[in-house]
Amino acid sequence: MSSSAKPIKTVAIIGSGLMGSGIAQVAAANGHQVTVVDQSQEIIDKASASIQKSLGRVVKKKFPDDPKAQQTYVADVMAHLSLQTDAIGAVKSADLVIEAIVENLDTKKSLFSTLDKAAPSHTIFASNTSSIPIKDIAAATSRLDRFGGLHFFNPVPVMKLVEVIRIPETSDETYSALEAFGKAVGKTTVQCKDTPGFIVNRLLVPYMMEAVRLVERGEATPRDVDTAMKLGAGYPMGPFELSDYVGLDTVKFIIDGWMEREPDNPLFSQSTLLNKLVEEKKLGVKSGEGFYSYDKK
Ligand code: NAI
Repeated sequence: MSSSAKPIKTVAIIGSGLMGSGIAQVAAANGHQVTVVDQSQEIIDKASASIQKSLGRVVKKKFPDDPKAQQTYVADVMAHLSLQTDAIGAVKSADLVIEAIVENLDTKKSLFSTLDKAAPSHTIFASNTSSIPIKDIAAATSRLDRFGGLHFFNPVPVMKLVEVIRIPETSDETYSALEAFGKAVGKTTVQCKDTPGFIVNRLLVPYMMEAVRLVERGEATPRDVDTAMKLGAGYPMGPFELSDYVGLDTVKFIIDGWMEREPDNPLFSQSTLLNKLVEEKKLGVKSGEGFYSYDKK
């Protein structure tokens, strides 16, 4: 890290859903003081329970035969975490604010505009958005040089990558601090400009869409495409298994957004089959059916 960059010790995470609670867990587990914010006590209680459940899985692997060490570890991580509904209070003492709320530009802008007025001047802002340009979100603030993207992957405690995104205004100090934070929470970082899908989704989403188009043309079945990509390309999941896992509504949402921005890019074109499944609420694993059927629990 460059000498002028202040190391990140306190982190405010806004949004305690799938991603926010995962980011909070890895940040707290690596010694950061973390405040997680969401809209209601009920949501926060759910997030706290889900973090504890996830930590339960971590300690079983980390200390398989040592219940005392398991307890101490969980207690220590939880002592680094506080959950609340007051976003303004949370950012007042934060070195870094990570936003992981709903994927909607206006909602994100309105949040950041409020937080910009409340946070100290040294506080760095980052969004975990998957598909919205970071520059559009950052425009709601007066700290473009202290703004960037930290794109984590689901499930956060398991996936080893963080994409660190720079907008043209992101200062070297800010970038270094974000990169150092990513490493400090145990991840490998890669740097990318503010381009649709960054690195991973830019390659993955068109690949998943191309698999759907191949099936739409009647050239192969989803099962055979998945088998082919797992055994022939060494991928851990086939594109249809992956789409069902990510959620077909999410895949559609991402491709629709990109198509709006680059209508002439054939990689971002629509799929009738995907649109039909989403319309029928066949969204993948979470709804019990997508390209495949799943047991509803
Ligand atoms: P989620 O729906 O699980 O969680 C979002 C949370 O934000 C909810 O608990 C909601 O109550 C809360 N929220 C909404 N508006 C709020 C506000 N104004 N103030 C405080 N809390 C608010 O969503 P998820 O999946 O965690 O996604 C969050 C962000 O992370 C999105 O931008 C998404 O694109 C991005 N992302 C998602 C990935 C995924 O696999 N789900 C992967 C990487 C990034």
